[in-house]
Amino acid sequence: MFGAGTDGTQQNAIELLKTDHDKVEALFARVKKNEDGNNSDVFRQIKQELDVHAHIEEQVFYPHCLQYGDEELQKIVREGLEEHAQVKILLPEIAALSGDSEDFKAKLKVLIEDVEHHVEEEEGEMFSLVEDQFDEEMLIRLGSLLDAEKVRIGGSAARSASGNQ
Ligand SMILES: [Fe+2]
Ligand SMILES: [Fe+2]
Repeated sequence: MFGAGTDGTQQNAIELLKTDHDKVEALFARVKKNEDGNNSDVFRQIKQELDVHAHIEEQVFYPHCLQYGDEELQKIVREGLEEHAQVKILLPEIAALSGDSEDFKAKLKVLIEDVEHHVEEEEGEMFSLVEDQFDEEMLIRLGSLLDAEKVRIGGSAARSASGNQ
């Protein structure tokens, strides 16, 4: 998350995206432990993380793969975009519901299943193709572009500003 580390190292694109995935998975784990409870606070964090993550993938990472990747990679990225589109329908639907409602719980469960499936495809298939097709220098460059876009839209700083319109 902290682009250029103090030791001068820089997360490459794959490392950066995986760090995001892990962060979201930790939030999912909190929901799973409290399946019958009210998860509206955790959901707000999940939504914030997913909004930013989907945005930087769609603005920086996916376009690069579509432009310079081989056909197999392009195909997986196009599927990924469709999966993002489904998640983007669910997120505002859940946000509009009360955390106590059964619909909220059902939709949040489906959201988690959808995102976990999507992350599996990215980490299991897409990222290995990316590592085969782009060299480390390019992955580092993409990493800083992802990081810059995240900072630009307030991804890292937005956490404490939620609810402030
Ligand atoms: Fe994605
Ligand atoms: Fe992702």
